[in-house]
Amino acid sequence: IKIFIPRDATALSLGADKVAKAIASEAASRGIEVQLVRNGSRGLFWLEPLVEVVTPTGRVAYGPVKARDVAGLFDAGFHEGKAHALGHGLTDEIEYLKRQERLTFARVGITDPLSLEDYIAHDGYRGLKRALGMTPEAIVAEVTESGLRGRGGAAFPTGIKWRTVLGCQAEQKYIVCNADEGDSGTFSDRMVMEDDPYVLIEGMTIAGLAVGATKGYIYLRSEYPHAEAVLLETIARATAAGYLGNDVLGSGKAFHLELRRGAGAYICGEETALLESIEGKRGTVRPKPPLPAIEGLFGKPTVINNVISLASVPIILDKGGAYYKDYGMGRSLGTLPIQLTGNIARGGLIEKAFGITLRELLYEYGGGSASGRPIRAVQVGGPLGAYLPESQFDTPLDYEAFAALGAVLGHGGIVVFDDTVDMADMARYAMEFCAVESCGKCTPCRIGSTRGEELLSQIIVARSEGPQPGRIELLKSLCDTMLGASLCALGGMTPYPVMSAINHFPEDFGVSQDSAE
Ligand code: NAI
Ligand code: SF4
Repeated sequence: IKIFIPRDATALSLGADKVAKAIASEAASRGIEVQLVRNGSRGLFWLEPLVEVVTPTGRVAYGPVKARDVAGLFDAGFHEGKAHALGHGLTDEIEYLKRQERLTFARVGITDPLSLEDYIAHDGYRGLKRALGMTPEAIVAEVTESGLRGRGGAAFPTGIKWRTVLGCQAEQKYIVCNADEGDSGTFSDRMVMEDDPYVLIEGMTIAGLAVGATKGYIYLRSEYPHAEAVLLETIARATAAGYLGNDVLGSGKAFHLELRRGAGAYICGEETALLESIEGKRGTVRPKPPLPAIEGLFGKPTVINNVISLASVPIILDKGGAYYKDYGMGRSLGTLPIQLTGNIARGGLIEKAFGITLRELLYEYGGGSASGRPIRAVQVGGPLGAYLPESQFDTPLDYEAFAALGAVLGHGGIVVFDDTVDMADMARYAMEFCAVESCGKCTPCRIGSTRGEELLSQIIVARSEGPQPGRIELLKSLCDTMLGASLCALGGMTPYPVMSAINHFPEDFGVSQDSAE
């Protein structure tokens, strides 16, 4: 009997190792032969640890399973897929999963992340094999055709970025994967790295072939020890099997991959600070131009892409750009791995084509708030993203639709708040976050964030006494300066959460709805 128990950090934090041990010992004491496979997470976090049993009709799901449930599960015959209070039937038929469009996450939760054989058996390395028979120009053209835009948050067209690097003459070029996933409420990069690491390795190898780069770096945030262990192991296995190295699959083309670990600074997710950090320097932002595509790592032309952008490349090369761009809307093509977190009943990973609305995500997938209270606000796109009120929940997830509201989709993280949230305190927190994480290079961010935090603290103390137009005006003017004069997105986008909180929830700032703009 084959039983799957996730090894993903989410499941581990909820006791998956204890459950695995309990299943192994209970099966042994009952004389039942079981094969335990440690898979990735299916992304249904409220059901973790989600244990799956292979039956003739498919994988049957049980969760959330605690070690103390295991004896009862065996008593009920779960090892034969029989009914139990924790049972959910066939995993693939669970609505949350069934209604998704998993392209980038096609294998996540299904395979053993460490197994190269399993990866290949589930369509892995088909994209690379096709790319090896193509010219660099044709690979770049396929990625351009797909409409893929940077999934780290800025949504810059990946094909154009690659074309810039391909067009540069240099004896050395680099592929850098930005795996410094620092946005609050995001975990899709982590899931790919822990749960389907070969797809990232394959995507980076294809990027190397496309632009003529023989060396790649994955810059991983230090907070992801499980991802680090999985990546080190799978890079070694891919190298041993000839998928990485001096002669990728006998093609005569080289691609080497190295892992570099960050040290906990949010700003090292900004691409130029990240390059400084890989070079061994303090992570401060470099002015642009020059663009990293032209003068990047060690001064050489460099493709820097987010984990999800690179992990989306293998399926694009395998099935074609036209297949990928058939999903989505407007100029937001393909799918987005959406991360639903915060005060939500069913948090997790939802990969869907662009165009799904916030309301569908929050209620049809998320099942409303975890507290049972009305949802008052959601923050989309990390700590630098805007807060959206209920009146904007029908907005489709589309880069342009969000921009029209003064909001961002960013890396696809959605953090949910119920009606007990204090939006003035959230605005104050945005300024505090900026002050703590600022690299200090430019004045609007370094000084502005500290002044902003002070101002918001004063507003919070005095708001019960009535409107404070002077302080609010000063705060708006400070936000204008940060927005227009900061060197990078940290200082430049901190006004998004602050101003959206003031505009949509003025009552929390001592301003009545009527007198608000
Ligand atoms: P950006 O708009 O300056 O650049 C986007 C990318 O396109 C960069 O890689 C840039 O080098 C490249 N690029 C621009 N013009 C190019 C050209 N002509 N040829 C080739 N490449 C070109 O945005 P930035 O500052 O890199 O990123 C800001 C975004 O990062 C924000 O929108 C935010 O959503 C996101 N973000 C994501 C975080 C995460 O954890 N994933 C954390 C913080 C922010
Ligand atoms: Fe550094 Fe902030 Fe300026 Fe960015 S905006 S360069 S983080 S000081």
